[in-house]
Amino acid sequence: MTSYTEKGEKPERGRYLNFDHLTFWVGNAKQAAAFYCMAFNFEPVAYQGLETGNRDVAAHVIQQDKIVFVFKSALNPDNKVMGHHLMKHGDGVKDIAFAVEDCDFLVQMARSRGAVIVREPWEEKDEYGKVKMAVIQTYGDTTHTLVERMGYHGCFLPGFKPSSFQNPVLAKLPPAQLNFIDHIVGNMPEEQMEPTVQWYQKNLLFHRFWSVDDKQMHTSYSALRSVVVSNYDETIKMPINEPARSLRKSQIQEYVEYYGGAGVQHVALNSNNIIRSVMNLKSRGVQFMSIPDSYYSILRDKLRKASITVMEDLDKLQELKILVDFDENGYLLQIFTKPLQDRPTVFFEVIQRHNHKGFGAGNFKSLFEAIEHDQAARGNLTVLTPQNNIETLK
Ligand SMILES: [Fe+2]
Repeated sequence: MTSYTEKGEKPERGRYLNFDHLTFWVGNAKQAAAFYCMAFNFEPVAYQGLETGNRDVAAHVIQQDKIVFVFKSALNPDNKVMGHHLMKHGDGVKDIAFAVEDCDFLVQMARSRGAVIVREPWEEKDEYGKVKMAVIQTYGDTTHTLVERMGYHGCFLPGFKPSSFQNPVLAKLPPAQLNFIDHIVGNMPEEQMEPTVQWYQKNLLFHRFWSVDDKQMHTSYSALRSVVVSNYDETIKMPINEPARSLRKSQIQEYVEYYGGAGVQHVALNSNNIIRSVMNLKSRGVQFMSIPDSYYSILRDKLRKASITVMEDLDKLQELKILVDFDENGYLLQIFTKPLQDRPTVFFEVIQRHNHKGFGAGNFKSLFEAIEHDQAARGNLTVLTPQNNIETLK
């Protein structure tokens, strides 16, 4: 793997500050929001819909510390844009919003460099202040909304009202203690990783932060390449993946086929106590990927020779199937959920970092083997023959 120190051109004006919120387009926003509250400990904070004067779209906003998710569904029978999106992609992430300074300048720069502006900067206001926003097209049907909050102090954005219903069950469930979005991963079709990385470099002035290639990142069956792009301040990190050719269908390819193209594969949520988080998420009903015990015997061997010490109890990490990756300076702990909807598309990661800036390259092989197990159960771990014919494994 490669870490990069060159941050590239410093933007003369404007800043990308952090992830502001994620918007999911789903079939039933009310139920999806309730699921994420129950399973992952989010709380309803804001709502938009018929009762607030929005006649077209219902939006449910849920929050946990700095993590904000918005679930949107069409209200009317003929919403072709949202209907087509749902038919093609299923439930998924439509928009990754960034909090920014100087929205106008960032849009002007992106436009002059060739980015597609879906919506020019506009202002919205209510009694809590005003916000400037704009929307830029990125990979697949995914967009980036730039949000300049200008001191806005309402519950979410102008036009939203505070949520009126708090499910009394939520307060009785153990806390997930998830704090902020660590990174958001996009899966690209074959040959699309490099153009996508270059799009972020050219239009948003992001830089390459970290990368791995398929020689480092493969199992006996499947392989991938990944480059992480980041803003100048390195507060936003977005790995961009693509499948690489190997003996069987890559899980990235499986994602691309079920999502109908490029899209968000996983959202990593930071915890400062992953053992507590995972124990509590499991008791709330979250299903995680499992790893064989052999992973932990190999890990214990490697850690015996390592210069760092893992502070957490390894027996507990093994019991919960939490993965460990490390270098000479520090380590990270991570675990991945199963897909969060019927299509094998979006899932979450829970991550805790101890002075380690990587993305778990040392775990990719074990993780991929675990995913391949599920992929085979779905009938999708297919053999790629030299003629590029595909036949399903029996
Ligand atoms: Fe990740």
